[in-house]
Amino acid sequence: MKNIVILISGSGSNMAAIVKAAKRDNWAAKYQAKVAAVLSNKADAKGLTLAAQHGIATESLDHKAFANREAFDAALAQRIDRYATPEHPPLVLLAGFMRILSTDFVNRYAERLVNIHPSLLPAFPGLHTHKRAIDAGCKVAGATVHLVTPELDHGPILAQAVVPVLPGDTAEALAARVLTQEHLIYPQAVAKLLQNQ
Ligand code: GAR
Repeated sequence: MKNIVILISGSGSNMAAIVKAAKRDNWAAKYQAKVAAVLSNKADAKGLTLAAQHGIATESLDHKAFANREAFDAALAQRIDRYATPEHPPLVLLAGFMRILSTDFVNRYAERLVNIHPSLLPAFPGLHTHKRAIDAGCKVAGATVHLVTPELDHGPILAQAVVPVLPGDTAEALAARVLTQEHLIYPQAVAKLLQNQ
């Protein structure tokens, strides 16, 4: 069995979409894969409650309790690696995990570390993507699922979804429109990755 570990910081709606797809499409039988744990850097992340309701192991690790990024990332990696099986290292999915990861961490999980970003990369890496897309006068916006490499919000693209930017859109309205697409493309991209591995 291949374990999937999902990292979150907030509401965890992408995590929930992946958990639901894994159940609905029987990833256990199809890909010998299961969502084994959801970890958060925030103890009050709503997604932790949601994951626990699905019977998934949850854990939080407060980044503020560590001296620096490297120390936090090393502790996080230790937790993640508990989900390695004799045959497989875990697949690590970032789903609204609002932390920049150190190069050591990224390299440790190379080719098995995936992120979803709420823009059509390479446009708008970083924060406030929806406001920046509206301010730039973009007619379309979207989301990108990509393999994580050390440079922030870069790395080979696995999937993208495009939505229109509508006249009068607020960042919140656009974010909600993009999020519905994130919930479709993230599970699809992970399934494809599992299929190809
Ligand atoms: C999602 O829109 C995701 O793309 C974004 O945070 C939101 C998390 O929502 N991620 C980033 O901005 C990463 N830089 P969720 O917790 O409901 O899945």
